[in-house]
Amino acid sequence: MGKDVIIACDFDSMEKTLAFLDRFESLPRKPFVKIGMELYYAEGPQIVREIKKRGHKIFLDLKLHDIPNTVKKAMAVLSRLDVDICNVHAAGTVRMMESALEGLIRLDGTRPLLIAVTQLTSTDQEALEKDLWIDKPIDEVVMHYAGNAKQAGLDGVVCSPLEASKVHAACGAGFLTVTPGVRFADGDVGDQKRVMTPAEAKKAGSDYIVVGRPITAAEDPVAAYERCVREFTD
Ligand code: C5P
Repeated sequence: MGKDVIIACDFDSMEKTLAFLDRFESLPRKPFVKIGMELYYAEGPQIVREIKKRGHKIFLDLKLHDIPNTVKKAMAVLSRLDVDICNVHAAGTVRMMESALEGLIRLDGTRPLLIAVTQLTSTDQEALEKDLWIDKPIDEVVMHYAGNAKQAGLDGVVCSPLEASKVHAACGAGFLTVTPGVRFADGDVGDQKRVMTPAEAKKAGSDYIVVGRPITAAEDPVAAYERCVREFTD
Protein backbone atom coordinates (compact mmCIF):
# COMPACT_ATOMS: atom_id res chain seq x y z
CA MET A 1 0.00 0.00 0.00
CA GLY A 2 1.31 3.42 -0.89
CA LYS A 3 0.43 7.02 -0.19
CA ASP A 4 -3.29 7.55 -0.38
CA VAL A 5 -6.23 9.68 0.68
CA ILE A 6 -8.79 7.94 2.92
CA ILE A 7 -12.28 9.46 2.98
CA ALA A 8 -13.83 9.42 6.48
CA CYS A 9 -17.42 8.31 5.77
CA ASP A 10 -18.87 9.78 8.95
CA PHE A 11 -22.53 9.12 8.13
CA ASP A 12 -25.19 7.52 10.33
CA SER A 13 -26.79 5.18 7.80
CA MET A 14 -26.01 2.78 4.98
CA GLU A 15 -28.38 4.71 2.73
CA LYS A 16 -26.52 8.02 3.11
CA THR A 17 -23.13 6.33 2.80
CA LEU A 18 -23.93 4.42 -0.38
CA ALA A 19 -25.60 7.47 -1.95
CA PHE A 20 -22.40 9.40 -1.20
CA LEU A 21 -20.16 6.67 -2.64
CA ASP A 22 -22.34 6.40 -5.76
CA ARG A 23 -21.00 9.81 -6.76
CA PHE A 24 -17.52 8.29 -7.16
CA GLU A 25 -18.68 5.56 -9.57
CA SER A 26 -17.16 7.30 -12.59
CA LEU A 27 -13.63 7.33 -11.16
CA PRO A 28 -11.16 4.75 -12.50
CA ARG A 29 -10.16 3.81 -8.94
CA LYS A 30 -12.56 3.51 -6.01
CA PRO A 31 -11.50 5.73 -3.07
CA PHE A 32 -10.12 4.21 0.14
CA VAL A 33 -12.77 4.79 2.82
CA LYS A 34 -12.80 4.92 6.61
CA ILE A 35 -15.74 3.46 8.53
CA GLY A 36 -15.88 4.73 12.09
CA MET A 37 -17.93 3.91 15.17
CA GLU A 38 -20.99 5.92 14.13
CA LEU A 39 -21.56 4.08 10.87
CA TYR A 40 -20.45 0.67 12.14
CA TYR A 41 -22.69 0.82 15.20
CA ALA A 42 -25.59 1.99 13.04
CA GLU A 43 -25.29 -0.69 10.36
CA GLY A 44 -22.99 -3.43 11.67
CA PRO A 45 -20.77 -5.70 9.55
CA GLN A 46 -23.13 -5.47 6.58
CA ILE A 47 -21.92 -1.96 5.79
CA VAL A 48 -18.35 -3.26 5.57
CA ARG A 49 -19.39 -6.12 3.26
CA GLU A 50 -21.40 -3.76 1.06
CA ILE A 51 -18.60 -1.20 0.64
CA LYS A 52 -16.04 -3.97 0.08
CA LYS A 53 -18.30 -5.50 -2.58
CA ARG A 54 -18.19 -2.17 -4.41
CA GLY A 55 -14.41 -2.42 -4.61
CA HIS A 56 -13.26 0.07 -1.97
CA LYS A 57 -10.39 -0.51 0.44
CA ILE A 58 -11.54 -0.05 4.04
CA PHE A 59 -9.96 1.35 7.20
CA LEU A 60 -12.24 0.12 10.00
CA ASP A 61 -11.67 2.70 12.74
CA LEU A 62 -13.15 1.07 15.86
CA LYS A 63 -10.22 1.79 18.23
CA LEU A 64 -10.42 -1.40 20.31
CA HIS A 65 -9.29 -1.22 23.95
CA ASP A 66 -10.06 -4.14 26.30
CA ILE A 67 -8.31 -7.11 27.90
CA PRO A 68 -5.93 -8.90 25.50
CA ASN A 69 -8.10 -12.02 25.09
CA THR A 70 -11.23 -10.04 24.24
CA VAL A 71 -9.40 -7.84 21.74
CA LYS A 72 -7.79 -10.90 20.12
CA LYS A 73 -11.17 -12.55 19.60
CA ALA A 74 -12.82 -9.37 18.36
CA MET A 75 -9.98 -8.85 15.88
CA ALA A 76 -10.40 -12.41 14.59
CA VAL A 77 -14.01 -11.55 13.74
CA LEU A 78 -13.08 -8.23 12.11
CA SER A 79 -10.33 -9.74 9.96
CA ARG A 80 -12.92 -12.08 8.42
CA LEU A 81 -14.65 -8.96 7.08
CA ASP A 82 -11.67 -8.51 4.78
CA VAL A 83 -10.89 -4.96 5.92
CA ASP A 84 -7.53 -3.47 4.92
CA ILE A 85 -6.63 -1.50 8.06
CA CYS A 86 -7.99 -1.64 11.60
CA ASN A 87 -6.88 -0.13 14.89
CA VAL A 88 -6.55 -0.28 18.67
CA HIS A 89 -5.67 2.15 21.45
CA ALA A 90 -1.97 1.92 22.32
CA ALA A 91 -3.06 2.65 25.91
CA GLY A 92 -4.31 -0.95 26.03
CA THR A 93 -0.64 -2.02 26.57
CA VAL A 94 1.96 -3.81 24.46
CA ARG A 95 0.46 -7.16 25.40
CA MET A 96 -2.98 -6.12 24.21
CA MET A 97 -1.53 -4.92 20.90
CA GLU A 98 0.35 -8.22 20.44
CA SER A 99 -2.89 -10.12 21.08
CA ALA A 100 -4.76 -7.92 18.61
CA LEU A 101 -2.16 -8.73 15.97
CA GLU A 102 -2.42 -12.48 16.66
CA GLY A 103 -6.20 -12.33 16.38
CA LEU A 104 -6.02 -10.64 12.98
CA ILE A 105 -4.11 -13.41 11.21
CA ARG A 106 -6.47 -15.21 8.84
CA LEU A 107 -6.38 -18.94 8.08
CA ASP A 108 -4.41 -18.26 4.89
CA GLY A 109 -1.76 -16.35 6.86
CA THR A 110 -2.73 -12.88 5.59
CA ARG A 111 -3.96 -10.09 7.87
CA PRO A 112 -5.18 -6.50 7.67
CA LEU A 113 -2.71 -3.79 8.65
CA LEU A 114 -2.97 -2.86 12.32
CA ILE A 115 -2.27 0.63 13.60
CA ALA A 116 -2.56 2.21 17.04
CA VAL A 117 -4.07 5.43 18.31
CA THR A 118 -1.39 7.04 20.50
CA GLN A 119 -3.24 9.87 22.26
CA LEU A 120 -6.49 11.21 20.90
CA THR A 121 -6.07 14.74 19.57
CA SER A 122 -8.93 15.73 21.87
CA THR A 123 -6.71 14.94 24.87
CA ASP A 124 -4.58 17.91 25.87
CA GLN A 125 -1.80 18.29 28.43
CA GLU A 126 -4.25 19.33 31.14
CA ALA A 127 -6.52 16.29 30.65
CA LEU A 128 -3.47 14.02 30.50
CA GLU A 129 -2.33 15.22 33.91
CA LYS A 130 -5.66 15.83 35.66
CA ASP A 131 -7.79 12.98 34.29
CA LEU A 132 -5.29 10.32 33.33
CA TRP A 133 -2.61 11.11 35.94
CA ILE A 134 0.11 10.95 33.31
CA ASP A 135 2.76 13.39 34.41
CA LYS A 136 4.78 13.71 31.18
CA PRO A 137 4.72 16.10 28.19
CA ILE A 138 2.08 14.92 25.72
CA ASP A 139 4.49 14.73 22.77
CA GLU A 140 6.74 12.39 24.77
CA VAL A 141 3.72 10.25 25.63
CA VAL A 142 2.76 10.08 21.93
CA MET A 143 6.29 8.99 20.97
CA HIS A 144 6.44 6.44 23.79
CA TYR A 145 3.12 4.92 22.73
CA ALA A 146 4.29 4.85 19.09
CA GLY A 147 7.39 2.95 20.29
CA ASN A 148 5.16 0.50 22.15
CA ALA A 149 3.12 -0.08 18.99
CA LYS A 150 6.32 -0.72 17.05
CA GLN A 151 7.57 -3.10 19.76
CA ALA A 152 4.28 -5.03 19.62
CA GLY A 153 4.79 -5.53 15.87
CA LEU A 154 2.09 -3.13 14.65
CA ASP A 155 2.30 -1.49 11.25
CA GLY A 156 1.96 2.13 12.33
CA VAL A 157 0.01 4.76 14.23
CA VAL A 158 -2.72 7.31 13.82
CA CYS A 159 -1.16 10.69 14.55
CA SER A 160 -1.28 14.34 13.65
CA PRO A 161 0.56 15.19 10.40
CA LEU A 162 2.71 17.42 12.63
CA GLU A 163 4.03 14.29 14.35
CA ALA A 164 4.56 12.14 11.24
CA SER A 165 8.24 12.93 10.68
CA LYS A 166 9.13 12.40 14.35
CA VAL A 167 7.36 9.04 14.34
CA HIS A 168 9.23 8.00 11.19
CA ALA A 169 12.54 9.12 12.67
CA ALA A 170 11.95 7.07 15.83
CA CYS A 171 10.13 4.02 14.44
CA GLY A 172 11.44 3.78 10.88
CA ALA A 173 10.35 5.05 7.47
CA GLY A 174 8.23 1.94 6.87
CA PHE A 175 6.18 2.48 10.04
CA LEU A 176 2.90 3.92 8.76
CA THR A 177 1.60 7.31 9.80
CA VAL A 178 -2.13 7.73 9.17
CA THR A 179 -3.04 11.33 9.76
CA PRO A 180 -6.38 13.13 10.21
CA GLY A 181 -6.60 16.89 10.70
CA VAL A 182 -6.23 17.80 7.03
CA ARG A 183 -7.78 20.92 5.54
CA PHE A 184 -7.49 22.79 2.23
CA ALA A 185 -5.63 26.09 2.48
CA ASP A 186 -8.84 27.96 1.57
CA GLY A 187 -11.17 25.70 3.61
CA ASP A 188 -12.99 25.66 6.93
CA VAL A 189 -10.96 24.35 9.88
CA GLY A 190 -14.07 23.37 11.88
CA ASP A 191 -13.28 21.70 15.23
CA GLN A 192 -9.81 20.46 14.18
CA LYS A 193 -7.16 22.41 16.02
CA ARG A 194 -3.81 21.50 14.52
CA VAL A 195 -4.28 21.17 10.78
CA MET A 196 -2.18 20.83 7.63
CA THR A 197 -3.03 21.00 3.94
CA PRO A 198 -2.69 17.79 1.88
CA ALA A 199 0.51 19.18 0.32
CA GLU A 200 1.97 19.98 3.75
CA ALA A 201 1.01 16.52 5.04
CA LYS A 202 2.83 15.04 2.06
CA LYS A 203 5.94 17.08 2.87
CA ALA A 204 5.70 16.05 6.53
CA GLY A 205 5.83 12.40 5.43
CA SER A 206 2.27 11.21 6.16
CA ASP A 207 1.58 7.88 4.48
CA TYR A 208 -2.21 8.19 4.49
CA ILE A 209 -4.32 11.26 5.14
CA VAL A 210 -7.82 10.78 6.55
CA VAL A 211 -10.13 13.48 5.25
CA GLY A 212 -13.76 13.86 6.26
CA ARG A 213 -15.72 17.09 6.00
CA PRO A 214 -13.52 18.84 3.40
CA ILE A 215 -14.77 16.08 1.06
CA THR A 216 -18.10 14.88 2.53
CA ALA A 217 -19.46 18.41 3.05
CA ALA A 218 -18.11 19.84 -0.22
CA GLU A 219 -20.50 21.03 -2.88
CA ASP A 220 -18.73 18.68 -5.29
CA PRO A 221 -17.24 15.84 -3.19
CA VAL A 222 -15.64 14.13 -6.19
CA ALA A 223 -13.81 17.33 -7.21
CA ALA A 224 -12.71 17.86 -3.58
CA TYR A 225 -11.44 14.27 -3.38
CA GLU A 226 -9.55 14.59 -6.66
CA ARG A 227 -8.01 17.86 -5.49
CA CYS A 228 -6.93 16.16 -2.27
CA VAL A 229 -5.33 13.25 -4.13
CA ARG A 230 -3.58 15.65 -6.50
CA GLU A 231 -2.19 17.81 -3.69
CA PHE A 232 -1.15 14.79 -1.59
CA THR A 233 0.37 12.54 -4.23
CA ASP A 234 1.67 14.79 -7.05
O1 C5P B 1 -14.08 15.82 9.07
P1 C5P B 1 -12.66 15.62 9.44
O2 C5P B 1 -11.70 15.75 8.26
O3 C5P B 1 -12.23 16.44 10.62
O4 C5P B 1 -12.60 14.07 9.86
C1 C5P B 1 -11.45 13.49 10.39
C2 C5P B 1 -11.72 12.06 10.73
O5 C5P B 1 -10.60 11.53 11.44
C3 C5P B 1 -12.93 11.83 11.64
O6 C5P B 1 -13.51 10.57 11.26
C4 C5P B 1 -12.34 11.77 13.01
O7 C5P B 1 -13.09 10.98 13.89
C5 C5P B 1 -11.00 11.11 12.73
N1 C5P B 1 -9.96 11.38 13.73
C6 C5P B 1 -9.51 12.65 14.05
N2 C5P B 1 -8.52 12.82 14.99
C7 C5P B 1 -7.99 11.75 15.60
C8 C5P B 1 -8.42 10.47 15.28
C9 C5P B 1 -9.42 10.31 14.33
O8 C5P B 1 -9.97 13.62 13.49
N3 C5P B 1 -7.02 11.94 16.47
